[in-house]
Amino acid sequence: MNFLEKKKILLIISGGIAAYKSLDLIRSLTKLQCEIKTILTKGGTEFVTPLSVASLSKNKVYSDIYSAENETEIDHISLSRWADLILIAPATSNIIAKMSQGISDDLATTVVQASNKNIFVCPAMNVRMWEHASNKQNIEKIKSYNYRIIGPFNGEMACGEYGDGRMADIEYILKELDNFFKSKSNNKKFRAIVTAGPTREYIDPVRYISNRSSGKQGYEIAKSLFNNGIETTLISGPSKLIPDPNINFLKVNTAEEMYKKTVESLPCDVAIFCAAVGDFKVKNLSEDKIKKNKDLNLDFEKNIDILKLISKNNNKPKLVIGFSAETSNLHLNSKQKLQNKGCDWIIANDVSKKDIGFDSDFNEVSIFYKDKNVGDEIIPKTYKSVVADEIVKRVINQLNLI
Ligand SMILES: Cc1cc2nc3c(=O)[nH]c(=O)nc-3n(C[C@H](O)[C@H](O)[C@H](O)COP(=O)(O)O)c2cc1C
Repeated sequence: MNFLEKKKILLIISGGIAAYKSLDLIRSLTKLQCEIKTILTKGGTEFVTPLSVASLSKNKVYSDIYSAENETEIDHISLSRWADLILIAPATSNIIAKMSQGISDDLATTVVQASNKNIFVCPAMNVRMWEHASNKQNIEKIKSYNYRIIGPFNGEMACGEYGDGRMADIEYILKELDNFFKSKSNNKKFRAIVTAGPTREYIDPVRYISNRSSGKQGYEIAKSLFNNGIETTLISGPSKLIPDPNINFLKVNTAEEMYKKTVESLPCDVAIFCAAVGDFKVKNLSEDKIKKNKDLNLDFEKNIDILKLISKNNNKPKLVIGFSAETSNLHLNSKQKLQNKGCDWIIANDVSKKDIGFDSDFNEVSIFYKDKNVGDEIIPKTYKSVVADEIVKRVINQLNLI
């Protein structure tokens, strides 16, 4: 089956020697019945002519960001909204650097910056450029924005040098795109619930007890599930983050509300409980604002245990995953939690470290599986978005096995 059929591809051609290959790429994509629109960077026009690109793609070629004619349709926004996917091939070291920093000084980079679509990048450059520390950092940075990198390949370069930096072969690029649409289409049958952020446990109508969770890891997991074609509901405690508008979004304050919304959102195939739910709530909640001239004595009681209850629910998702935030004995505590809660996986993060965990863009997690045949795993320190992709990859593999 051809999963590329009728897909709308926005191809950005930047100014590298491999730009001539993009003509073959357009021909192959049209043969597979894709609809193609193209943006040529100024550099790109030095290597391929707009006329060749327009003839092969059978569509207008876009280049100029300040074109009065095009901007009646606001091209720098509408081009990305039109596309099912954005493909940058070849991607020069320059465009990668600009994308990593959010520089939007031409149509191509502005469209990418304004995009809400999956972005695939096919780097092509001299081996020294590819291996330069700045390029390596830029690649890591764009990976953290969930851009997917295809290639580069190893081999002889146009300049006669040898190494990594050749643009991936057309066949390989097509296979990657086809696999992407294939897995998206297969995953459409799955539904996911993700909880994220902190909860607020009220003392009186204006005061509450909460924790330092930002919601970043949960929001990234929800985004990654959605990007992989899974219908996703994100149930979030108070957070400054803005979810993708395509994700079903439910905002809550307390653990009780989070539990209620979770139950209402069942059934689903996978539930990932990433929220930092308050373990305790105030017993003697005051209906009125507590006055300063009074002594304040608070009694606490155990809060509702969402993970445990959902793991026991008649409508239990096929896969229930809990997060555990630990400051010590990560391994032991997580194994115990896995047993006590009755869930399928525990993903543990050490929140005692400054550079990972709460509010950081980075995380390092250990995954503990109920299935004794599967060994524990560590996802070493990386961006939370990359951790999310790694988790979602494992979730999809597991859902396909159940
Ligand atoms: C003959 C020639 C070949 C080039 N090939 C590449 C290349 O393969 N990869 C690359 O990153 N830059 C290459 N460059 C440099 C880019 O064209 C240059 O960085 C330019 O600013 C890229 O602009 P763009 O990314 O906006 O298209 C080449 C330049 C010349 C003159």
